[in-house]
Amino acid sequence: MLTLGVNIDHVATIRQARRTVEPDPVAAAALVELAGADGITVHLREDRRHIQDRDVRILRETVRTHLNLEMGATGEMLDIALAIKPDYVTLVPERREEVTTEGGLNVASQQERINGVVDRLQSAGIPVSLFIDPDSVQIQASSQAQAQFIELHTGRYAEARGNLAAHKELAQLKRGCEEAIALNLRVNAGHGLTYWNTRSVAQLPGMEELNIGHSIISRAVLVGLERAVREMKDVMHGRA
Ligand code: PXP
Repeated sequence: MLTLGVNIDHVATIRQARRTVEPDPVAAAALVELAGADGITVHLREDRRHIQDRDVRILRETVRTHLNLEMGATGEMLDIALAIKPDYVTLVPERREEVTTEGGLNVASQQERINGVVDRLQSAGIPVSLFIDPDSVQIQASSQAQAQFIELHTGRYAEARGNLAAHKELAQLKRGCEEAIALNLRVNAGHGLTYWNTRSVAQLPGMEELNIGHSIISRAVLVGLERAVREMKDVMHGRA
């Protein structure tokens, strides 16, 4: 059955804007799980702009579903993953100046390095997913790396303007799914999925997990705002 991994980086982004202790992504993860999410996803970036090492360490202890650690394929991150042992690792490309992960990992252009990182992790019992564009060359390279999963980057589909363009990107995702499954890769997808564009991706045959962050956390801010204001007024007037 299709599962939902909720990316809670965006909760940490709000915390880091003030370099304070709230909102705590660890608390968010517990609520996300209570609401029925099937997994918790965090991206420990090299610059630690949102998720911190402490978050990953505590989440490893507290997450009851599964913890998906997104990371760049660097020596530092490899050491952290091998020590923390998340339920799986998703290798993503990382550039310091980007606002969010832009484009998929170019597995084909760094085949040997990725093969090595996948091998180190999977030999330690940590399944690996490669976050790639729905592109045949990258799918073949991911199969060659012997990763258990790929995560198809849905950004181009999410950003497509107009039905025609969206259909074209969706068809590309469908071809990507089919090709990957034929190569015995398991398929996840994510990036830029919203309450408006997720259904079509959810219906792609063989899709196992969607990783969604920004849209869910954005909606949480809005649907929770009225209650938060009421509770502050209660504090002000001694009712809480
Ligand atoms: N999957 C991967 C590999 C990502 O890097 C991200 C963004 O952090 C997501 C999924 C979630 O994307 P979004 O926040 O746009 O839902």
